[in-house]
Amino acid sequence: MVIRIFDNQDEAGLYAASLAERAIMGAAHPVLGLATGSTVIPFYRELVRLVQCGLDLSHITTINLDEYIGLPPHHEQSYHAFMKRHLFSRVNIPESQVFIPDGSVPDLAAECGRYDEIIREYPIDLQILGIGVNGHIGFNEPDDLLVSRTHVVELSEETIRSNSRFFADVSEVPTRAITMGVQAILQARQIVLMAFGEEKAHIVAKAIRGEVRTDIPASILQLHRDVIFVLDKGSAKELSLAKDA
Ligand code: GLP
Repeated sequence: MVIRIFDNQDEAGLYAASLAERAIMGAAHPVLGLATGSTVIPFYRELVRLVQCGLDLSHITTINLDEYIGLPPHHEQSYHAFMKRHLFSRVNIPESQVFIPDGSVPDLAAECGRYDEIIREYPIDLQILGIGVNGHIGFNEPDDLLVSRTHVVELSEETIRSNSRFFADVSEVPTRAITMGVQAILQARQIVLMAFGEEKAHIVAKAIRGEVRTDIPASILQLHRDVIFVLDKGSAKELSLAKDA
């Protein structure tokens, strides 16, 4: 496990983008697992900057972690729209190589199966993750068990409350989502989890230093052999580096 603590989010974003560049340069057909949320915005900004400096993304495949159920792809708070805004409209990844779960289809079970096929077909080289205040990764919420495969999830009250900052009213936040399961995340060759701000300090410390528990889904990353935590000073506040592994 590697932990990197940066002074600010821009530096952290640049570091994460450089890890993505390394993964892209190191594979003939690179596959990036991508995340949404305010934390990963500096990563996309710096990745776009690298593209403007000559990095080619035309041969990469991207697989997003999750999507709300019930929001059409053009809804501005859908993860489709987020990805378009922060990455896809700015770089040269062909649309046919971009995968995001579709939460607007009537047959959600079929959509989960379709997504697992895609994950099988394109093994992920680098998985970017954020972390929810309750420790969720993707939308794998704290529970008695963690689901391996892509599945439909009922969002926790905490997640709905937290994500309501992006909606006009909490009642507009979808209550369900499709998310990649933990198996796909753990099968990625390398994982980069980004977290910023003091409000994440407690859960970050639990995920990194605590026991591996299904009610702290991010703690499962301790089992992965190549995981890098990209933090700022705020989110690292409760880690004691003296105990670094
Ligand atoms: C959402 C996403 C997660 C993300 C989390 C944190 O719930 N499904 O993938 O990690 O938000 O978001 P933020 O970075 O805005 O705190």
